[in-house]
Amino acid sequence: RGQAMWGGRFSDRPDELMQAINVSIGFDRRLATQDLEGSRAHAAMLRKAGVISSEDAAAILQGLETIGQEMAAGTFPFREEFEDIHMNVEARLRELIGPAAGRLHTARSRNDQVALDFRMWVREACDRTTAQLKALQGALVAKAEAHVETLTPGFTHLQPAQPVTFAHHLMAYVEMFGRDASRFADARVRMNESPLGAAALAGSPFPIDRQMTAEALGFDRPTANSLDSVADRDFALEALAAATICAIHLSRLAEEIVIWMTPQFGFVRLSDAFTTGSSIMPQKKNPDAAELVRAKAGRLLGSFTQLAVVMKGLPLAYSKDMQEDKVPTFEAFDALELSLRAMTGMVADLEPDRERMAAAAGAGYSTATDLADWLVRELGLPFREAHHVTGAAVKRAEQLGCDLPGLPLADLQALEPRITAGIYDVLAPGASVASRKSYGGTAPDQVRSQINRWKDILA
Ligand code: ARG
Repeated sequence: RGQAMWGGRFSDRPDELMQAINVSIGFDRRLATQDLEGSRAHAAMLRKAGVISSEDAAAILQGLETIGQEMAAGTFPFREEFEDIHMNVEARLRELIGPAAGRLHTARSRNDQVALDFRMWVREACDRTTAQLKALQGALVAKAEAHVETLTPGFTHLQPAQPVTFAHHLMAYVEMFGRDASRFADARVRMNESPLGAAALAGSPFPIDRQMTAEALGFDRPTANSLDSVADRDFALEALAAATICAIHLSRLAEEIVIWMTPQFGFVRLSDAFTTGSSIMPQKKNPDAAELVRAKAGRLLGSFTQLAVVMKGLPLAYSKDMQEDKVPTFEAFDALELSLRAMTGMVADLEPDRERMAAAAGAGYSTATDLADWLVRELGLPFREAHHVTGAAVKRAEQLGCDLPGLPLADLQALEPRITAGIYDVLAPGASVASRKSYGGTAPDQVRSQINRWKDILA
């Protein structure tokens, strides 16, 4: 017997460089749990199908059990000479139970084995991420509930646009993260078919029961085409795409926290728990966690791109290129899960400054649209004309150095003589917000119903 599993065909040992480029145990040991689970289901199925004896099956299951304990205890010997997690487990099984170990790989190849293990890993990662998304949404909803009446500027082009409430702004992210969760759920449905039993690529001549292993491993059904089963990694690409979109949403919220935290804005404070100081500038309180969440989006997109480029142009079925699917996927989910947890912590931690936000909500002539709408409603002006009159009012206020509510009635009447004092009722930011009662609008009652809807969904 040679060194490797395929010793029969080989007489020489691999070059050191061959081993160095080939070895994957350093990262695919993260598939250990899935590998053992898959092997247990496979062994039980082989016994039921009469492919292996009950004694061999019992020995294999016993050995796998021991290996599981060794892994939990941290005593399992991960060895580079056995290349990957699959051969490490099999080699250890042989040491533990002898030649019966060699029967476990009947009607199976590492090609369907790795496709199975990796699919199960990605499936679990999607489930973990979904739970973390829910936790983040819960933190956002809780913060929103406390700020249904807190005014804040709504921006376009990062220029003051129209006043909104802080709750409304936070609930916008709850919607985004809700769609992220549904993308993971959709991906999971397509992912949830078992490739086990596709064997190397063509299926197996043994009377295997793929339905049985699929069910045992929590899949909805076995995959329908054996070539596709071992050649496809679109389940990972789809999960990475969903993860990347989620990271982009996180990055936008992180960027807003960074902006809100500046002394120039001064909209929110983060406690010492989510900020860092400077080694030279004693006054500093930096939003490093938010900045790092913002940056992780780059990693996520990098991971998606990496796997997409590995997969493009690969002929069917398995090629070793596909071993490179794992590192970007592991890294992407590690980064995403950490970002989600850090963001959840920051959202719970952040303390809005109501006064500063309210003052900013009214600055920059943010109720100009309300003025124009009043002219349309009360005087019957066409909107374009009302827009023109309002523009002139803003210009006049700029000349006088006042805001719109501070503009004297005489100056307004100089632009449009029919304007009455009633117009001042709509020029305060609170009135502007309260008036936007259309479905999904920023009026407190509308935002309250958004909040209640999400509380039901998240409960
Ligand atoms: N370590 C390999 C991977 O991750 C397992 C599959 C190897 N199959 C093969 N035919 N060389 O892709």
